[in-house]
Amino acid sequence: MGIQIAPSILASDFAHLADEAERVSNADWLHVDVMDNHFVPNLTIGLPVVEALKKASPIPLDCHLMIEDPDRWAPAYVEAGAGSVTFHVEAATAPVRLARELRALGARAGMALRPATPVEPYEDLLDELDMLLVMTVEPGFGGQEFLDLCLPKVRRARQLIDRHGLELWLQVDGGVSAETVGRCAEAGADVFVAGSAVFRADAPDHAVDELRERARAATR
Ligand code: DX5
Ligand code: ZN
Repeated sequence: MGIQIAPSILASDFAHLADEAERVSNADWLHVDVMDNHFVPNLTIGLPVVEALKKASPIPLDCHLMIEDPDRWAPAYVEAGAGSVTFHVEAATAPVRLARELRALGARAGMALRPATPVEPYEDLLDELDMLLVMTVEPGFGGQEFLDLCLPKVRRARQLIDRHGLELWLQVDGGVSAETVGRCAEAGADVFVAGSAVFRADAPDHAVDELRERARAATR
């Protein structure tokens, strides 16, 4: 699949989501940050907005659920139109069952790790997933500083994926910018979420192209 860029609408204008999506028509995914004010201290958007966005934009939706009890809520995001649904392993009761359910409903199944959550305990689960998300900030807010301490985990995750010959995508999210994207790509990430770096730019589509180019350059 190669390098993919997923702008996070968290940094966009919530009053004009359809227009904001159109400004990044060259993106591979639209990253939708769902926060419930329990798993993380922030509250953002939920199912009705995902449904509306699905109708308003042709870009596939990558829903990142920062919520408690994803076992109960995640499948509904597939029904709402998400092409990819990522739950946090710290919040899931039965991650294998949940990943299988998401796949059975026709979505890509993603699993996210907070900065302090190691990847090694989940080695045997990786085959159940289509994407692993290694957070590069503490989830909850956009515009935070990139945590370089997460890069060794990206590297170890890449080694596990390659050792098992898996197809799954390795996503990074948080503080990804023109300055940090190369380090992430070099460590082995191939899907890059960026909020501020894209939507705070004068030309968000150019920012997407630049991120893609810098990630490619770092892996050449
Ligand atoms: C943080 C969210 C991120 C956020 C990234 O909890 O998961 O997707 O939107 O925003 P930036 O790119 O500004 O760090
Ligand atoms: Zn996110």
